[in-house]
Amino acid sequence: MSVEVAVIPAAGRGTRMRPATRVVPKALITVVDRPAIQYAVEEAARAGATEAVIVVDLDAGHLVQQHFLSGGRLPGLEHVKIRPVVQEEALGLGHAVREAAEAVGDRSFFCLLADNIVRPGHDVLGSLEAAADGLSAVCLRRLEDDFLSRYGVIVPGSAERADSTLDVAGAVEKPGPENAPSRLGLIGRYLFTAEIFEILARLKPGVGGEIQLTDAIDDLGRRGRCRGFVAAVDLLDVGTPEGLIEATAVLGENRAASEPE
Ligand code: G1P
Repeated sequence: MSVEVAVIPAAGRGTRMRPATRVVPKALITVVDRPAIQYAVEEAARAGATEAVIVVDLDAGHLVQQHFLSGGRLPGLEHVKIRPVVQEEALGLGHAVREAAEAVGDRSFFCLLADNIVRPGHDVLGSLEAAADGLSAVCLRRLEDDFLSRYGVIVPGSAERADSTLDVAGAVEKPGPENAPSRLGLIGRYLFTAEIFEILARLKPGVGGEIQLTDAIDDLGRRGRCRGFVAAVDLLDVGTPEGLIEATAVLGENRAASEPE
């Protein structure tokens, strides 16, 4: 059955993007000609989702809603239902996803971190769906040492197969190079069955005192309920000024090529 709902956690405070994010929520920072969050909704729509549950903080809720819904529907997103869900307290990414439980119900759902934008022509959600085969699946990249302190890293449960999939046996949030169980990092695209909500509901705070999505993936992996898909290219990171510069160049060039004046 195809996945109809996407959860997009977008409640981060954007501390790496100050002072831009003093007033403007990080999800609404402009990348070329549209806010970061719109790329994630468009990506989910391309994969067939018809509903986007956007988890925002109190300040951003009405702005996100206004962006998508006021003045008529955005082209290409006419058939996507936008449902902002407010995360009242910043208790971590896992907590943010948990806030979407009521809106999602018992359906499987894509989860897209809005800080990361896919490179044009390199969508991964379809591959995640194929890899999941009814279970959950996480998108992975082979990471350099430096990144092992900045990303969640999985415990492989099998070798990588010819179709770039593997079994996931566990996961550790930001382990660092000394403790990393592998070099395969979680890059912000996931497909979860609704069982993740029960796991998230009983999780204790992890790294940084936050409820970590990676800890829930660890639980799924230990029970043989999670697959991985190793993506061929990385995502663009618009959560930092350097990343935003690269994303603007890549997406700006793509726009110029596809929509000549
Ligand atoms: C989050 C996740 C981490 C993941 C990363 C991808 O970390 O907690 O597991 O690897 O996103 O961008 P954050 O970037 O919020 O520190």
